[in-house]
Amino acid sequence: MAESITIIDNRTGNSLEIPVVNGGISASEWQKVLPGIWFFDPGFVSTASCESAITYLDGEKGILRYRGYPIEQLAEQSTYLEVAYLLLHGELPTAESFEEWRREITYHTFIHENVRKRFLDGFHYDAHPMGMFVSAVAALSTFYLDAKDIFDPESRHKQIIRLIAKMPTLAAAAHRFSVGMPFVYPDNSLDFTSNFLSMMWKIAEPRFDANPVLARALDILFILHADHEQNCSTTAMRVVGSSHSDPYSAAAAACAALYGPRHGGANEAVIRMLTQIGSIDEVPGFVKAVKEGHGRLQGFGHRVYKSYDPRAKIIKRTADEVFEVTGKNPLLDIALKLEEIALSDEYFVSRRLYPNVDFYSGLIYQAMGFPLEMFPVLFAIPRVSGWLAHWEELLDEEAKIARPRQLYIGPDERDYVPMERRGS
Ligand code: CMC
Repeated sequence: MAESITIIDNRTGNSLEIPVVNGGISASEWQKVLPGIWFFDPGFVSTASCESAITYLDGEKGILRYRGYPIEQLAEQSTYLEVAYLLLHGELPTAESFEEWRREITYHTFIHENVRKRFLDGFHYDAHPMGMFVSAVAALSTFYLDAKDIFDPESRHKQIIRLIAKMPTLAAAAHRFSVGMPFVYPDNSLDFTSNFLSMMWKIAEPRFDANPVLARALDILFILHADHEQNCSTTAMRVVGSSHSDPYSAAAAACAALYGPRHGGANEAVIRMLTQIGSIDEVPGFVKAVKEGHGRLQGFGHRVYKSYDPRAKIIKRTADEVFEVTGKNPLLDIALKLEEIALSDEYFVSRRLYPNVDFYSGLIYQAMGFPLEMFPVLFAIPRVSGWLAHWEELLDEEAKIARPRQLYIGPDERDYVPMERRGS
């Protein structure tokens, strides 16, 4: 028998049986017996905002799959570009379709000269690269007017290619500007991630060859960050996309959501926290302060994962490989001690707070030489493929415009009082 629940309105005695479909119940069914009564769910803690076939996540068991493929297998065997294809097309590419995908992305890595010369160069000298990045992604919509044809498959495909391809170029350009270095053009003889590293670090050499261990480690981090179902930035992408704005504007909103320290800014916050702790001896005192309500343990806790974040496990392994090349990040010992203490402390255990993806990723980025301000930008580069997959899914489903209701708790109607008759 199909699963269902029955609700009874005790005010009227009316009842309604509602089927449970894919683990959820339709709120519009409830509305039939409860017109004018709204579901109160700040932060969408108990709300499924859509049906999605992209990413599966089980926070209790620590499972993450893209289109059914376990994240561990993708991180081990795939590349970011292949994963981006998978997220957007639903299937792994054949050799032929991957070659076409790679070629298209590679040939769209350049940005219009005016994006850099007139737009990026206009920022204040000490602008935060993520702030520049958010604005630059939004500005792209003014360069590609065809982006407004969101229901034209050819135009949609073109914008998707452009966005994925140009993210590393914009990211590196924002970094180079913020440190006063000249812009480096893409080198299309390099793979996606090595090309990004070249644009970041190249100085006078004719060709920048990234260390293959570091390039692979960054590619793994890109795979791990490519999607995470209905997180804050993806929700922003969907909400803005539901008004049928162009994908650059929607992606800029998603980038803005990612900027915050509770989301993509957390890896930057982790390094600041570890630096502030300073030494292993200070760790117990820091944990005590957190438990007393003075701040949070950055890189710990997750809305969905209530066990070890599977991405954090993979990152921890990757960190060891990176440190063999770069030398150990001196903050690693503090991080390990913090993890050890927190994982055996009743406060963290009872709240099921485990290290998340950001706890170790910042240590890798720092060891590779990325400045702290670039950390959220590094998160945004691959996450755009996830955002775009959700954006396409939303458009294909002909989803309604996002427009929640509220429970009004302000004053009742009252008459306007002229200023001279108001008290002090
Ligand atoms: N340190 C200390 N206490 C914490 C932490 C933490 N990092 N996270 C949650 N808590 C406590 C919180 O104080 C609350 O305790 P109590 O029940 O006594 O009031 C309880 O745990 C539940 O917390 P919450 O704020 O209701 O949980 P949430 O699901 O709304 O927040 C979170 C999830 C990720 C925003 C939060 O855990 C956090 O702020 N973590 C630190 C920032 C961070 O690492 N963010 C990266 C998330 S993973 C990457 C991404 O997806 O962007």
